[in-house]
Amino acid sequence: MRFHTDKEKILIVDFGSQVTKLIARRVRELGVYSEVITPLGIKNLKNFKSISGIILSGGPSSVTKTNFQSIPKEILLKKIPILGICYGLQLISKLYGGIIKSSKKRREFGRAFIFKKKQSLLTKKFFKSKLSVWMSHEDAVVKLPKNFSAVAYTKDSKLTIIENKKKKIYGVQFHPEVTHTDNGKQIFKNFLFSICKIKKNWNVAHQKKRLIEETKKKVERNKVICALSGGVDSSVVALLINKAIKRNLICVMVDTGLMRKNEFKYTYRIFKDKYKLNVKLIKASNIFLKKLKNISNPEKKRKIIGNLFIKIFEKEAKKYKNVKFLAQGTLYPDVIESKSFTGSKTSKIKSHHNVGGLPKKMNLELIEPLREFFKDEVRVLGKSLGLSKNISQRHPFPGPGLAIRIVGEITTKKIKILQEADQIYINELNKSNLYNKIWQAYAALLPIKTVGVMGDSRTYEYTCLIRAVTSEDGMTADYYNFPKDFLDKISNKIINNVKGINRVVYDISSKPPSTIELE
Ligand code: XMP
Repeated sequence: MRFHTDKEKILIVDFGSQVTKLIARRVRELGVYSEVITPLGIKNLKNFKSISGIILSGGPSSVTKTNFQSIPKEILLKKIPILGICYGLQLISKLYGGIIKSSKKRREFGRAFIFKKKQSLLTKKFFKSKLSVWMSHEDAVVKLPKNFSAVAYTKDSKLTIIENKKKKIYGVQFHPEVTHTDNGKQIFKNFLFSICKIKKNWNVAHQKKRLIEETKKKVERNKVICALSGGVDSSVVALLINKAIKRNLICVMVDTGLMRKNEFKYTYRIFKDKYKLNVKLIKASNIFLKKLKNISNPEKKRKIIGNLFIKIFEKEAKKYKNVKFLAQGTLYPDVIESKSFTGSKTSKIKSHHNVGGLPKKMNLELIEPLREFFKDEVRVLGKSLGLSKNISQRHPFPGPGLAIRIVGEITTKKIKILQEADQIYINELNKSNLYNKIWQAYAALLPIKTVGVMGDSRTYEYTCLIRAVTSEDGMTADYYNFPKDFLDKISNKIINNVKGINRVVYDISSKPPSTIELE
């Protein structure tokens, strides 16, 4: 289901930068609707009527090579304001006849100080003394295209901000979307409101009404089956659709046996008793475990789980008359992440089961009302639907559950061990008031057994990995810097209380190059 709007929007062309989504976030934070599109998508786009501005993202391509990612030249004739970021600036320069060179001398990575050369609409209220911006480029524009001028420079690059004021085309070599760039938001503010002259049109709570109306219209008198996991996303979807169609919504909770300890029972009761949803509980842990037996390949695990979920829903749907739709809590980052921007297989990192792992032939039509939203926006939406903080502030939990946190083969024993360790960890985070400072935290079980000594006896048991990250939307993440005391406490508690674990390690990797989950 496309909850599409024909309101004015900013298009962001994704050339494959790791941080493209942050551009979309920044634009939305300023109250403007934005959509990310692939270079192929914009090539095929017929209607530019509702597009108030285009932002070209960064990316790994190089305009110094023969085969570089681009946009059709006709777009430049449409008089739509354009902002190029990093690769985007180089592409604009190339398309207008500038010269770009790959040069070790001019490359900049990390922080750089930026200085004003002349006034520009793009940099209104942007400059201040000692302003630093975030750079990540090897290619650089060495000769400006005709009718372009330089607005700002750094020590190593003369053309850090460029403009063609008449054509409303701008380029910045740095990344204003990342928080490491001082005052980066001001660049977007100026581009949106002073250059594109777009009006504020995006407010999460106001979307609620639209989503409810659109769901009503789409579903008519049919029934919707909703995969409810108890996580923030599916809970918000269920409450939203319930507001639209009430008893025609059947929420299905599948007990895969791969959830956190006690979480399933707790969530089931809340949805049934507090929110009065029509919830059906399906106990399927045996079948999940059977299908996952001896499987250690992460992608296979994901595919098996994704396929089983869908089969169960389809089977369930057949028990009712007129079930036509399957509702899912797919978010905007899932949508972008599952779309390889070049179409190449290598850029797909994981099959998130609510998107990439779906079988090709599905008998139910999808309803995904949160396809346009980021996680924090979903939390706001949840609040406006009366979702309790307990659920709306929960850390994300992946669809495949503990299956991707037990590295290697999954057994009932390993699940039990991990559930115990995870519960201790999360409880301690809550007790120490750390839970809400962390974007996501979990315990995982590594398939490594090592020797330990407890009392006077030798042990030979598993290793528990604990992970805690800070993040904006799961696209990039940093490990959380716990005080040593907390790590000591966790390690002791887990080893002393969980039979089967004799070693605890803390994961200090960031994303990228690692990912948040282990598989
Ligand atoms: P990664 O491991 O890709 O995770 O850095 C980013 C975020 O996505 C969550 N995740 C999933 N969520 N189904 C989901 O609903 C999945 O298959 C899945 N895999 C990862 C992960 O927990 C983190 O928040």
